[in-house]
Amino acid sequence: MSWKFDESISRIYEGHVLQHIPLYEKTINYCLDYAENHIPKDAPILDFGCATGVTLRKFASRGWTNLWGVDSSPVMYQNYEDDIIKYSTNIEPEQYALTLCNWTLHFCPNKWLTIDQLLKCSKTLIISDKTLHSKQQEIAYEQWKIDQGCTREEVEEKKRSLQGIMYLHPVADYIDFLEKGLTEYQKRMDKLKN
Ligand SMILES: C[S@@+](CC[C@H](N)C(=O)[O-])C[C@H]1O[C@@H](n2cnc3c(N)ncnc32)[C@H](O)[C@@H]1O
Repeated sequence: MSWKFDESISRIYEGHVLQHIPLYEKTINYCLDYAENHIPKDAPILDFGCATGVTLRKFASRGWTNLWGVDSSPVMYQNYEDDIIKYSTNIEPEQYALTLCNWTLHFCPNKWLTIDQLLKCSKTLIISDKTLHSKQQEIAYEQWKIDQGCTREEVEEKKRSLQGIMYLHPVADYIDFLEKGLTEYQKRMDKLKN
């Protein structure tokens, strides 16, 4: 069965990411530290691919008050809705002081358009993502999951379920895109295809 961000995942989400996403807490703490130094507590912050809103709740507990969460699967956040975070399946027209886009773009078939859209509505954009890497890195990644308590069967099953629903690119493509912008990047990709 294909991987789905559904209600059953939303219930176990916070434990699941710790076993499946390397550097999860370190990355979120980096985002919080960045915001602590640069983003006023009332400035709008968007988490694109917010899942259950877990990251935004960390921002709320540190005093930020203008928090927006976007996720294409509303069942991920519906059981966690509160008066503090404004959730939606679409990006609301705002100028965000900070946008987080952590571990979401690899699920977006049109990720370059999505990044372009996020750049246009954000003063600062933080991206982290699953990228295309070598066989050795893949082996180390799977071993890391086992070290976190996953069984080999769970690792294999998750890999199978994700087949065909991830759109992976090397880090260099992201850097190239961010340096060149949408039009130039697309021109370059078209040239490589022909
Ligand atoms: C691995 S989780 C993201 C982790 C989250 N940012 C965090 O910090 O814990 C990926 C999320 O992206 C959402 N997602 C996938 N494709 C999306 C899209 N095109 N637009 C918005 N959200 C998307 C999924 O529903 C899921 O909740």
